[in-house]
Amino acid sequence: MTIMARGLSDAAFVDIAAHFAVSKPVPGEGRDNPRGRELFLNGDAGKGVPACVGCHGANGRGVVSGSVIYPAIGGQQVVYLREQLRNWRNGGRRNSAGGVMNEVAKPLTDDEIAALAEYVGSL
Ligand code: HEC
Repeated sequence: MTIMARGLSDAAFVDIAAHFAVSKPVPGEGRDNPRGRELFLNGDAGKGVPACVGCHGANGRGVVSGSVIYPAIGGQQVVYLREQLRNWRNGGRRNSAGGVMNEVAKPLTDDEIAALAEYVGSL
C-alpha cells in the first residue's frame, strides 16, 4: 500500500475516500460456519483467543478508535483471510500495532483458521 499511496495528491486521497464512502460493500463469498461464528463473536477464553467482533466491529465492518484503525474484514475473500491469519500466526506478517494480530492468531489451529475465514468471508 505504501508504494501505491506514495504518488497520490491530497485531492486524490479525498476523491478515493469519497468513492469508497458511498460504495456498497460487495457480498462475501464465504459460508456460515458454527466454529468460525463462535470464535468471531465470543472468542475462546480457554485458549486465549479474544472475540474478533470486539475490535473489528459488528459484521467485521471495521472500527476507527482514536488513531487506531481496526480494518473491515467482513466479506473479504476466504483465501485472503486464511492466508493473513496463517501469516499472522507464523510471524510472516507483523504490521499490527503491538503485534496484536500475531497474539490473536497464535493459539488458532489450521481448522479454526479455516472456519474463521469461511465465516468472516460470509459477512
Ligand atoms: C485487540 C484488537 C483485535 C482483535 C481482538 C482482533 N483483531 Fe484483527 N486486526 C487488528 C488490527 C489493529 C489490525 C490491523 C493491522 C494492520 O495494521 O494491518 C487487524 C487486522 C486483521 C486482519 C488483516 C486485514 C487485512 O485487510 O489485511 C485480519 C484478517 C484480522 N485482523 C482478523 C481477525 C480475526 C479473525 C480476529 C479474531 C480471531 C481478530 N482479527 C481479532 C486488531 C484486532
